[in-house]
Amino acid sequence: MPSTLFVCTTCRRADNVDDATTESCGSKLKRELEAAAESLPEAARPKIEGYECLMNCERACNVAIRAQGKSGFLLGGFAPVLADARALLDYTWLYNASPGGVVPYRDWPDGVRGRFCGRIPAASADPLPQARSEPALEGEK
Ligand code: FES
Repeated sequence: MPSTLFVCTTCRRADNVDDATTESCGSKLKRELEAAAESLPEAARPKIEGYECLMNCERACNVAIRAQGKSGFLLGGFAPVLADARALLDYTWLYNASPGGVVPYRDWPDGVRGRFCGRIPAASADPLPQARSEPALEGEK
């Protein structure tokens, strides 16, 4: 199952924060990713989608990676430059090849080291079976 890279298109780094009239860093990073992905074989290209705010604004630019049946990850602190885009695409290739989305640390591209901000567990087919321990709300049965 191919992965999706969600790129926060509203992220602004400190040097971009006071100028709302210019393109956001996140939007520029998305363009860099799309341009870098063009050079990859089609099977290796992740789906790249823009998303407005991944709720990690203080570590702009932020990207989330997800795929069906795999842990998802939030990464931040990227610059809107080709080198960071390539590091993300290299990591995405490894992520796609991993069984559960966990790429061994030793294999991480240098450009993603220190950028992980969160892991989201893979959704199960039976979501949160133990989570409903409180009584049902009135009228809900
Ligand atoms: S604006 Fe990018 S995470 Fe909030």
